[in-house]
Amino acid sequence: MDRMPHLPLHLPIRPRRNRKSAAVRGLVRETSLSAQHFIYPLFLSGTEADEDIASMPGCKRWSTAGLLAEIGKAAAAGVQAVVLFPRILDALKTRDAAEACNPDGLVPQTIRAIKAAHPGVVVITDVALDPYSSDGHDGLVSDDGIIMNDETVEVLCRQALTHARAGADIVSPSDMMDGRVAAIREALDGKGFTDVSILSYTAKYASACYGPFRGALDSAPRAGDKKTYQMDPANVREAVRETMLDEAEGADMVMVKPAGMYLDVIRAVRETTALPVAAYQVSGEYLMIKSAAAAGWLDEKRIVLESLTAIRRAGADMILTYFARQAAEWLRE
Ligand code: PBG
Repeated sequence: MDRMPHLPLHLPIRPRRNRKSAAVRGLVRETSLSAQHFIYPLFLSGTEADEDIASMPGCKRWSTAGLLAEIGKAAAAGVQAVVLFPRILDALKTRDAAEACNPDGLVPQTIRAIKAAHPGVVVITDVALDPYSSDGHDGLVSDDGIIMNDETVEVLCRQALTHARAGADIVSPSDMMDGRVAAIREALDGKGFTDVSILSYTAKYASACYGPFRGALDSAPRAGDKKTYQMDPANVREAVRETMLDEAEGADMVMVKPAGMYLDVIRAVRETTALPVAAYQVSGEYLMIKSAAAAGWLDEKRIVLESLTAIRRAGADMILTYFARQAAEWLRE
């Protein structure tokens, strides 16, 4: 026979008391989300036009004028940092990725334009060869198809110096070569750029979530995949090891990428180091949200803010997200 309990229950402990009003929920909220934590990834078209990106609806490849206007709008909503990704014309792509070190290339020119128009905005640059490489890999490829570590690191140092000379505040190696943080630190310091920071892509996984980004930049590998340098999605201790190495090599900040499916990795990295931790909500994560929202299946604003809050809760200080400007605007409403 079913016996109903006598009401009211004798419950001295009722967690719902801490949820009873918006003000009480605000008092006990453990994680905050604000625009100062956002880093806005922006694509550079290298042309006079702002171009739609077929693989990333809602994002554009910006002309310099369009970019400066977009940064102004993001800054007005409180976003103080951007990271730049250039689309390099096929004609400029070579096996040695020499364009990556051109002092008058698209990235250095754009850094100077941002610094002139928005001196307070933190300019972060991506250090890796894939947009410039005719092989579409982050490193130099040998004749027999090997991604060559030490030879690549030398080019990355020159690329980082090119960005520093143009005025970058932070260089961000995303290539996953061994030893590049120490080498870049030494190269920067050797030329007097002791104030330029290194945000290392410390735990960057060989993820299916980068497809739309490679479409945006035309930077997919011509042959093979990135599994000999990017990490196996099955691993987390390896992320801890990479974190310890990057910290010892002099990284100022470390990053986990992707973010949403790797919250446990963010937590593990957070607990390994006292350095600031960034997480990158990548193009595939962006598209999963965008496409579900476009179909009317999810409430875009709520899912975006929830996904970003979850990344912060896992332990990220900073979040790179294509929603940066939009989320900042929502947070101001
Ligand atoms: C390239 C780079 C990639 C991303 C950032 N830098 C692509 C890759 O590693 O293939 C991906 C970002 C995204 O998917 O949003 N070094």
